[in-house]
Amino acid sequence: MLAMETTVDRAKEMAAQRSLEFIRDGMVVGMGSGTTATHFIKLLGARVKQGLKVRGIPSSRASDELARSLGIPVIDFHSATQIDVTIDGADEVTHKLDLIKGGGGALLREKIVASASKLFVIVADSRKLVDRLGKFPLPVEVIQLAAPLVAKKLEAVGVHPAVRKTAAGEDYITDEGNLILDCACGEIDNPQKLAAEIRAMVGVVEHGLFLGMANVALIATETDVKELAR
Ligand code: 5RP
Repeated sequence: MLAMETTVDRAKEMAAQRSLEFIRDGMVVGMGSGTTATHFIKLLGARVKQGLKVRGIPSSRASDELARSLGIPVIDFHSATQIDVTIDGADEVTHKLDLIKGGGGALLREKIVASASKLFVIVADSRKLVDRLGKFPLPVEVIQLAAPLVAKKLEAVGVHPAVRKTAAGEDYITDEGNLILDCACGEIDNPQKLAAEIRAMVGVVEHGLFLGMANVALIATETDVKELAR
């Protein structure tokens, strides 16, 4: 790893480490996706090995597989309809704790898991903290058939979508079998309005604006972790 990547990864791990303070014996825990959430799942797995009793609900296939491999008991919403606390990463976080998520492609399940959580805690390195959302392209998950129709509607509301590709140049397909349109927005003046406009487009499954959902953000540099609360 390059020095800069090591520094960022260290910050991600510190945020994940701090988030363990929110976990108690007997809890149902939402487990997010991405590199920061992966740190969290690994640390949680270590606690489970030491005797912590929790059950986890993962927000992606990758997190599901990782949790199982570490011996964390994995359940779904048939076993519990409420999550005590979810720990997840984000691509952008404002000081009001509005978020852009979905850089890792798991926004749909992440939003479902977050919506079922009593407490939703974001773990992120300090590069993610922004004054206004929109520098990071906004992911919008769409039914494959509808992608060209939704793309046209997105252009009409002033954002510029591009179909997400894999490293091999193929269409990226989400865990639920959908496409992602990454939308270049520039700074978003009114995230609530944009969220409502996108949600109204037939064929959109979910978008990566998580507004008013997070309760706490643990924002880490290499040397310390700041706790922001809403
Ligand atoms: C995945 C996500 C991730 O939480 C987000 O992309 C942050 O990832 P990382 O912790 O790797 O920077 O929303 O859909």
